[in-house]
Amino acid sequence: MRQLLFAANWKMHIGPDEARAYMKAFRARYHRREDREVWFFPPAVSVEATAQATRDRGDLLVGTQDIYWEPKGAFTGAVSAPLALQAGARASLIGHSERRHVFGETDDDTRRKVGAALAAGLLPVVCVGETLVERDAGHTLAVVVRQLAAALGGLDGAALARVVVAYEPVWAIGTGRNATPQDAAAVHREIRGWLERRGTPPHAARVLYGGSVSAKNAAALLTEQELDGVLVGGASLDPEGWAQLVQTDAA
Ligand code: 13P
Repeated sequence: MRQLLFAANWKMHIGPDEARAYMKAFRARYHRREDREVWFFPPAVSVEATAQATRDRGDLLVGTQDIYWEPKGAFTGAVSAPLALQAGARASLIGHSERRHVFGETDDDTRRKVGAALAAGLLPVVCVGETLVERDAGHTLAVVVRQLAAALGGLDGAALARVVVAYEPVWAIGTGRNATPQDAAAVHREIRGWLERRGTPPHAARVLYGGSVSAKNAAALLTEQELDGVLVGGASLDPEGWAQLVQTDAA
């Protein structure tokens, strides 16, 4: 059976009380399905509340939007992988385009963060994707492969099997423009090939698409077998809408 992963990135929205209310509303409308998992990436302050609201549901998982690579110490404002784990996180986004482009995160930072996540037992969800300028110059695959090599180049197949990759073209994030299902699938095929050439066991590689995914376009995107799921920002903020989106079947 094809397994789909629907991931919600709440970005800088939904505090702890709102997270509890959100999960109550979501769980009232979405009941476990064997063919899908739903992951939530709340802001750090809401990870514990969200994790507590999913404890009895093995198909729901909570992660952080970012981690710092050091396990502890004098790093004001940062959250480490072991601290995220204590709060109930089981995964972390790494290298999201907003971390790269708003906060200046480098390829080398993503490598350290992936290492820290794996060392602590968090599943890294590594985000890659090109800007519009890079796309127009025909550099999409070169950029994606550079980002993959930087973040994951040092890992063996066993470690890579625990990594999820999210392809999020920067020009499609929050803009209402999304890649066509065929364009997304072509990039996913490259990513999967890259992972498998480095020892990721067949069928272990999971590649999500993100960028203006909505209830309107999700079915067409998921019809591409190269997509193992979606990573969704804006359309995940409303629990009723998200409960509907995660029940999308391929067209
Ligand atoms: P939108 O779905 O709001 O375009 O955001 C995508 C994203 O960045 C998810 O990580």
